[in-house]
Amino acid sequence: MSTRVAFIGTGEIANKHALSLRAVKDAALVAVCDIHQGRAEKFAAQHGAKKAYANAEQMLQTERPEVVHILTPAHLHAAPAVLAMESGADVLLEKPLATTVKECQDLESACARSGVYGRVNHQLVYSPAFDKMRAMVKACKFGRLNHVSVLFAVSADNLKSLPPSHFVFQDPANAVLEFGVHPLAMVQDLMGGVRDCKVMTTTERGGLPTHWQIAFECERGTAELTLLLGRGGKQTLLTVSGEDASAMLDMNRQTILVQDMNPHLIYGQVETAVRDAGRLLANGVSGLAAHYQNAFRLTSGMLRMDPFARSVAAFYRERQDKTGSVGLQAAREVIEYCDAAAQKYQRSMAVYA
Ligand SMILES: NC(=O)c1ccc[n+]([C@@H]2O[C@H](COP(=O)([O-])OP(=O)(O)OC[C@H]3O[C@@H](n4cnc5c(N)ncnc54)[C@H](O)[C@@H]3O)[C@@H](O)[C@H]2O)c1
Repeated sequence: MSTRVAFIGTGEIANKHALSLRAVKDAALVAVCDIHQGRAEKFAAQHGAKKAYANAEQMLQTERPEVVHILTPAHLHAAPAVLAMESGADVLLEKPLATTVKECQDLESACARSGVYGRVNHQLVYSPAFDKMRAMVKACKFGRLNHVSVLFAVSADNLKSLPPSHFVFQDPANAVLEFGVHPLAMVQDLMGGVRDCKVMTTTERGGLPTHWQIAFECERGTAELTLLLGRGGKQTLLTVSGEDASAMLDMNRQTILVQDMNPHLIYGQVETAVRDAGRLLANGVSGLAAHYQNAFRLTSGMLRMDPFARSVAAFYRERQDKTGSVGLQAAREVIEYCDAAAQKYQRSMAVYA
């Protein structure tokens, strides 16, 4: 029998969850809930859910879903997620886990108390290229890792598409919670927990900071996050620097380029070019195949290339092992790093004021 799935929140991101759910074997969206009943009904009709509700508690009691996706705005995750956990459902939350450390702790407690599985959709750590990068780091392909740097650029179009009432515009530091969690989850995965950070921001025309430069001291080395807001296109570049080599991952293209410290300057360049060309060609062919599989709605294409679909599918595998609230603990730590950066930002603003 299929796993009974329900969504709470049927806005923008819910569409991606519904598409990703198609790639999950034996899972069916049975009901959705949105405080705007009409929105929930329209969404249910579009995505084949049988019932639409305006009240989450009522939906949970009537439908008894085994899995609930929490897709409400960032600052409204905690209450419906706790309700879902207490109803006995495993919960996949959209990022960020919550917007305060206290709410994250409450969610962790509710998850442990209810004995359910919970995880946050930090999809970039489930991308095929990041999987490869993690495996290369673990296999010591670059020697001991010293430093990770991430450029995370949020496109101007993405920012413009958000209403003025959006969470991200309510406080300058909310940008780190809304967008910074994606690159920080990758930093955490590769370098371990963050111990300290330093923050520098640039603000254009008296508005929100559009350029965040955050330096982190982590358990296994240092890291740096450049967060650019609305200053061009969407871009995520992650560079790892090890004792023997460096490598750059391009999230848009799902490619990795390795720069090793080859002592043969001339032959080394040719060797690197041939190796990278081969890798890029293989990547391109694989991407093209996945694109056509997607176009024909073959889920194997989505699972091969799309980080979002892979993250959702992984959740359904992980919940079988009932690995407790480990997923939430890691996500809570990410919020603690965001919180530390926000506090440093506020302190620096106080100095300028
Ligand atoms: N993983 C990603 O790449 C990614 C991308 C965009 C957004 N997100 C996250 O997804 C979440 C939702 O973002 P969105 O862009 O879809 O927002 P949205 O505003 O488009 O949709 C949120 C929906 O939740 C509904 N809602 C609010 N409170 C509710 C409640 N108590 N019960 C039921 N419904 C309720 C709203 O009416 C709205 O329809 C946010 O946490 C955001 O950060 C993640």
